[in-house]
Amino acid sequence: MPEIDPWGDVEVGDYSQKMQDFGIDPIEDVENKMPDNYLIRRGIIFGHRGLDKFLEAKEKGKDVAMMTGIMPSGVFHFGHKSVVDQILMYQEMDAQITITAADIEAYNTRDISLEKSRELVIEEYLKNYVALGLDLDKTDFYFQSEGGNNYHLRSKQFAKHLTQNEVEATYGSAAPGKITSALTQYSDILRPQFKENGGPKPVVVPVGVDQDPHIRLTREVARKYRDADYYKPASTYHKFMRGLQGGKMSSSDEKSYIALTDSPEDALMKIDQAKTGGRDTLKEHREKGAKIEEDMVFELLTFHLIRDDNELKQIREEYASGEMLSGELKQIAKEKLSEFLVEHQEKRKEAGPIVKQYLKER
Ligand code: TRP
Repeated sequence: MPEIDPWGDVEVGDYSQKMQDFGIDPIEDVENKMPDNYLIRRGIIFGHRGLDKFLEAKEKGKDVAMMTGIMPSGVFHFGHKSVVDQILMYQEMDAQITITAADIEAYNTRDISLEKSRELVIEEYLKNYVALGLDLDKTDFYFQSEGGNNYHLRSKQFAKHLTQNEVEATYGSAAPGKITSALTQYSDILRPQFKENGGPKPVVVPVGVDQDPHIRLTREVARKYRDADYYKPASTYHKFMRGLQGGKMSSSDEKSYIALTDSPEDALMKIDQAKTGGRDTLKEHREKGAKIEEDMVFELLTFHLIRDDNELKQIREEYASGEMLSGELKQIAKEKLSEFLVEHQEKRKEAGPIVKQYLKER
């Protein structure tokens, strides 16, 4: 059995263990060459494959690309936002941006119709991406089902370079729907390198660590494919935010996440109910301080709501020392969250027509 199933439930637990198991390199190795971004400074992006080569090429003035995919699963929540924050980082680095909507994968592995995927991708994902700052005019966005002839041809050709053993060892299964999804994803990842897209060129793929099996096999395929001289795609891995009640954040459990379209009222209520690292009694809290690592509100602040390191550090110190109470921490989070949501939802309204126009003109 593989230790990560890209189609299963992921709860990673020990990230350094996973890095060891799979040979993922620590992000610290290349940190000084990356933009000074809070995702890196805070270890939210924790590992990579081949990012050093990507960054060297970029430093030498080579055109580079970033590619990632959206699996339409339900509402767009804060757990999904970290990928968008990374896309924006690469957009700022002037990388060419490619994003796919994985409707073939959703069809084959999740029983979601192409129509439903389309609707979810537009309403839940694209509108939120644009509201967060994605510039569609500079983005190659496509649905897998409409990827074009070359893209589908490559995906079939890549099959030649895999063995059944390799597939089974990597995915723990060789179910046809999974193989089809995997081959489609290799074509996604290599797409920015197709000749018609100005390739070959270095590409980085920001993903959760559950997607690493696809990255490993795409790197294999890139090496073996003889009809073009592809660079092995680089990748980065980010941590998953935990659910508000602790445990896994999951689209099927409303209380575990805050959606970017939740009303501020609903969202604040979820903060009220969130798991904190506060102690049982005031006396104990003042003496021992909060258990920060177990505090989901602090996690939300770290991943999303506070960009200023000093501000976060100040809060961490006060909370860890017991000077600040969980209720006070929640109050800070609530103010920031409602401000964020009001502003975001305003922008999302404006994003509606932009997305519609983009899809029409494609
Ligand atoms: N399999 C990814 C997921 O489940 C979605 C995806 C499809 C993807 N193609 C991709 C991710 C290419 C990164 C790169 O979320």
